[in-house]
Amino acid sequence: TYIFINDEFVDESEGKINYSDRGYNFGDGIYEYIRIYDGKVFTSKEHYERLFRSAKEIGLNLEGYSVEGLTEVTKTLAAKNNVVNGGVYIQVTRGVAPRNHPFPDASTKPVFSAFSKSYDRPYEELKNGVKAITVDDIRWLRCDIKSLNLLGNVLAKEKAAQNGAFEAIMHRDQTVTEGSSSNVYAVKDGKIYTHPANNLILNGITRRIIKKSAEALNIPFIEEAFTLDFLNDADEVIISSTSIEVMPVIQVNDNKIGDGKVGQITKQLQKSFDNYIE
Ligand code: PDD
Repeated sequence: TYIFINDEFVDESEGKINYSDRGYNFGDGIYEYIRIYDGKVFTSKEHYERLFRSAKEIGLNLEGYSVEGLTEVTKTLAAKNNVVNGGVYIQVTRGVAPRNHPFPDASTKPVFSAFSKSYDRPYEELKNGVKAITVDDIRWLRCDIKSLNLLGNVLAKEKAAQNGAFEAIMHRDQTVTEGSSSNVYAVKDGKIYTHPANNLILNGITRRIIKKSAEALNIPFIEEAFTLDFLNDADEVIISSTSIEVMPVIQVNDNKIGDGKVGQITKQLQKSFDNYIE
């Protein structure tokens, strides 16, 4: 199995990270996770444009790298590992320097690393829906940056796992923000509600597809924050991400959503998403 590290494709056994890498010491870096469908890289441009935005927001210099170049790396890695359906994870850190909080010398080069994996779409869950729990959103106030610092997300997802749930839906003071690794939507009276794409959530690439789909289907897509009560009382609840696509949530904590079955608007959005990946 190949990985990409320090500008080279090498066998995974040869991948080494310096103990002074700022990603390792501080979580000082950013990442993307990109889907491969049928051997093709899906929405690569959108993902890498977001990576460049994240870089800019944390003052990480990506001079010399481009959306096209990184897309090539992604394609090559997937091809080398014979990934037909799966994904590529790519991260970049602020590089290797003695551990000091301020940015290192401007000559410090960012460190890229990427790996791929193969797996099928989550057909079973997409058809039947999943359970979620709710947890406090304890993260920082720049959740729009796809940062390597995922401790808040990890603690939330672990709580979901311990409760036999698929995802943890987070809230700040009763206002629903997003999932630990997904965006969240509530459908009520034929309208889709989701948190505005501001500093409190990641502007998901899947979210953007759902927004376009809703517009094409003439379903109102309302980017307004909603409460936990609104979520519990929704007709349908959906979570979305690159890996889980348009995922129905049929239960939140002990509360059944709607009639406890996958709803009609969810099904329409799933169908529309299928058209995107074909
Ligand atoms: N997570 N919100 C958070 C906090 C996320 O981590 C993710 C994605 C999303 C959805 O974004 P997108 O549709 O662009 O995948 C929203 C990825 C898949 C991960 O960490 O593995």
